[in-house]
Amino acid sequence: MQIARTLPELRAALAGRERPAFVPTMGNLHDGHIALVRQARPLADTLVASIFVNRLQFLPHEDFDSYPRTWDADCARLEAADCDIVFAPRERDLYPEPQTFKIQPDPALADILEGQFRPGFFTGVCTVVMKLFAAVLLPCGGGTAVFGKKDYQQLMVIRRMVEQFALPVDIVAGDTSRASDGLALSSRNGYLDAGQRTQAVQLSQALQALAQAALAGSAPLPQLEERAMQALQAQGWAPDYLTVRQRHDLQPPQSGTATGTLVTLGAARLGGTRLIDNLEF
Ligand code: PAF
Repeated sequence: MQIARTLPELRAALAGRERPAFVPTMGNLHDGHIALVRQARPLADTLVASIFVNRLQFLPHEDFDSYPRTWDADCARLEAADCDIVFAPRERDLYPEPQTFKIQPDPALADILEGQFRPGFFTGVCTVVMKLFAAVLLPCGGGTAVFGKKDYQQLMVIRRMVEQFALPVDIVAGDTSRASDGLALSSRNGYLDAGQRTQAVQLSQALQALAQAALAGSAPLPQLEERAMQALQAQGWAPDYLTVRQRHDLQPPQSGTATGTLVTLGAARLGGTRLIDNLEF
């Protein structure tokens, strides 16, 4: 496995390679990331993963500084998963000067849900993903990039960015990996203490209950969403949102929207840890 820290090192490692498969990450790799890497492995001759904690997508009060950096363990896991190249630029290499040009995603998609509670988040994500695509995929004539459905809105925003800029990149979605109790795997699960870890599955249970209630149609959706938030609150969470949306544009469902086209999405804080999850139905 080759490790590239700078753009020239990456260019040298990519020389002669065509249309790699690419898994961008912020490191602190868990089984969910490795499932994406394993999904990407057969999609191309060359498999590249990136590790870069992107300051641009964190708000000032968020966990950029404390975000776990676990370089040695990450490299061992990537090597075991048969990754060919790890691109792990330092901040000064990816952002050699202040990033004054940024990708501004469509507010209709990016200023709702996560974007409402983390303003500027998707601008930061799109800007770094565009830079990573330019570094990893574009010199090789494009390629395939794998993103997890755990970050459902991120996946949709990046798909739209690729379409709108006609990038030669195929976006492949990876299913969410879950612990045996159903908790979606996330780097931020590591912030939970033992009691919170036991409780954390309540978020995915709340989303399941909301999907079932929506299917049963026992009340208008806004009421069901409000009740779901109150129930989670009663369990000690501080929910930002629990909602049912159309999968294709993440807008509230039109009346008569068929099941099989919907998704429940949720974000809530347990103690100091903010978790997100979703469930297609
Ligand atoms: O999902 C993530 O880990 C990050 O948002 C990404 C896509 C690597 C961009 O920093």
